[in-house]
Amino acid sequence: NWTAESFIESSIAAIRERVGNDRVLLALSGGVDSSVAAALIHRAIGDQLTPVFVDTGLLREGEPETIKEVFGRHFKMPLVAIDAGERFLARLRGVLDPEEKRRIIGDEFVRVFEAAAVEHGPFRFLAQGTLYPDVIESATAVSKAAAKIKTHHNVGGLPADLRFELLEPLRFLFKDEVRTIGRLLGLPEEIVQRQPFPGPGLAVRIIGEVTPEAVTTVRRADAIVRQEVEAAGLSAELWQFFAVLLPVRTTGVMGDYRTYAQVCAIRAVTSEDAMTADWARVPHELLARISNRIVNEVPGINRVVYDVTSKPPATIEWE
Ligand code: XMP
Repeated sequence: NWTAESFIESSIAAIRERVGNDRVLLALSGGVDSSVAAALIHRAIGDQLTPVFVDTGLLREGEPETIKEVFGRHFKMPLVAIDAGERFLARLRGVLDPEEKRRIIGDEFVRVFEAAAVEHGPFRFLAQGTLYPDVIESATAVSKAAAKIKTHHNVGGLPADLRFELLEPLRFLFKDEVRTIGRLLGLPEEIVQRQPFPGPGLAVRIIGEVTPEAVTTVRRADAIVRQEVEAAGLSAELWQFFAVLLPVRTTGVMGDYRTYAQVCAIRAVTSEDAMTADWARVPHELLARISNRIVNEVPGINRVVYDVTSKPPATIEWE
């Protein structure tokens, strides 16, 4: 019978056996799956594992710091952290189309990752935090149809001349099992309980052009949404909760002055697997606190709305 302890023990033996004296590269996003894969492989082979963390400049508040702290200092992994924010923002300048944003970000990610692989290599293995549902879903018609709705990006699109053997130690596990294993391996709750976050990051939560100012604005609003949902004790019930910055300005009044500033939409959904989702019936009091704080604390926003659309017909992200 399966226990997390016995899984960890047998995986460590299997990873050591397969990898031998070779080296393993891993793209660390800071999400649950790649983080648990990193902790497990590191337990097995130590410094033969090189995790690469690319800061796209499109992450949430505090994320790059948490990832460097946990993996570099706490686990003492030889973490390669690349600050690529300016490169991503430069390529996104003037781009409005959602699919074009996704394509550019995926392409730039591969370039940065490939350069890191060459600089820090050679590597025989590429490790990924693929889970069992990812394995099944990629085989179903539903997800093939879904894949055409949006171009999801991960590290699958590496160039053909960078050939790796894949190491996927979590490919028979479900998310809850992965969380249990992460805790046993010593990962903090802020990583183990992290909500899903799209590869293109905050860029798909800024409708219209992704400017440095827009990133700062949506990041501040997002931090307030997270703080208030967590303070209300609702984060475990919700699949995702976040802010979206709209390219729409409306009139408002602050004290004696007229304001003319942007609208921020709040999105909170419940879901089992992200294939379908329901808008969350969160307490009005929570929405009131979020709205007050965003309008008072985030320059550039003077109106907050709540998204009451389920998936389908809407998707979870706005782009
Ligand atoms: P949608 O918006 O299609 O999103 O309903 C379904 C789930 O997928 C996440 N998402 C992504 N995840 N790369 C990812 O790794 C992506 O490009 C991407 N786009 C959306 C989204 O946050 C939701 O959980």
